[in-house]
Amino acid sequence: MKKVAPIETRKSDHIKINLEQDVRSGLTNGLDRYHFIHEALPELDLDKVETSFTLFGKKLAAPILISSMTGGTELAGTINQRLAEAAQELNVAMGVGSQRIAIEDSHQIPTYSITRKVAPNILLFANLGAIQLNSGFGLEECRHAVDMIQANGLFLHLNPLQEAVQAGGDTTFANLAKKIAKICKNLEVPVIVKEVGWGISERTARILAECGVAAIDVAGAGGTSWSQVEMHRAPDDFTRQLAATFVDWGIPTADSVLNVKKAAPGTIIFASGGLKNGLDIAKCIALGATLGGFAGQFLKAAAISTDKVADLVRLTRHQIQVVMFAAGAADLKALRNITLNESS
Ligand SMILES: Cc1cc2nc3c(=O)[nH]c(=O)nc-3n(C[C@H](O)[C@H](O)[C@H](O)COP(=O)(O)O)c2cc1C
Repeated sequence: MKKVAPIETRKSDHIKINLEQDVRSGLTNGLDRYHFIHEALPELDLDKVETSFTLFGKKLAAPILISSMTGGTELAGTINQRLAEAAQELNVAMGVGSQRIAIEDSHQIPTYSITRKVAPNILLFANLGAIQLNSGFGLEECRHAVDMIQANGLFLHLNPLQEAVQAGGDTTFANLAKKIAKICKNLEVPVIVKEVGWGISERTARILAECGVAAIDVAGAGGTSWSQVEMHRAPDDFTRQLAATFVDWGIPTADSVLNVKKAAPGTIIFASGGLKNGLDIAKCIALGATLGGFAGQFLKAAAISTDKVADLVRLTRHQIQVVMFAAGAADLKALRNITLNESS
């Protein structure tokens, strides 16, 4: 029997390792080879360039998502509160981390529900591992996760590799698609399926589109690598070496966005995974995404203060606005219609 850390210890380890260790993928996000064409005569006023848009019935100030991260410990509750305060102040979207721990232990609910308390108006996403649908969770638990934070949508995350490289991970991924489809069909809010940092292939995109997902968050390779995180918390050398094998694994974010666009046309795409700044988000939008998210970067800011999170959102929003200005895109629809130059 392998040693398995309790879920609360795992959550603390995840935050600590992500803050203190180098957990970056060996791959890049793939966006370096794409370039906007500079427009010297954009015929636009910078302050009139419009970064706002409506998603799932909510108007957002910018196409920015604070990606799903945490909850389930006191520190995680503080981080969620800071992220949500900044999201509320600047009106961007946010996801909480996996809520399994709070469904199994109601004492942990406040570490998640604090988000809605401090951010009554934001587009807020609940989160569960899709694998839980193979371990007894169903529609009821998905509804519970949504109700817990009065979410506007539910992320189901796919993390087969992370589960496979950790001691005692849940690796029974067979027959999951039909259960995801059932949740998509019956849940009252949109269901978005996401990876956690290894991206989405054309085949997976097709299956997810057939499941009826409202959106796909590619969470591609190029940023936080969960095999690297698991390597740092491995209980023995065998597990450490197993996890270390996958440092260069995954589909870079740029390729993942294009995969989904091709294989599941019409499906809303969220871009995340190693995005560095507003320029990367703008490139992803030009490639076909609706918005872009960061996780690791927001975690580091939230570990300091709400203001640091807000500063990062402000800078990112302004970067997007300046990119649009210099590329001659008056709004996000125009940005989506831009064709990027690709260097080999
Ligand atoms: C500390 C931390 C915890 C995370 N926990 C979750 C989670 O519970 N559920 C989930 O769907 N993704 C989780 N993620 C993955 C992120 O949402 C994101 O997909 C991934 O980190 C890639 O983005 P990045 O390169 O900007 O960090 C977590 C990421 C971090 C850094």
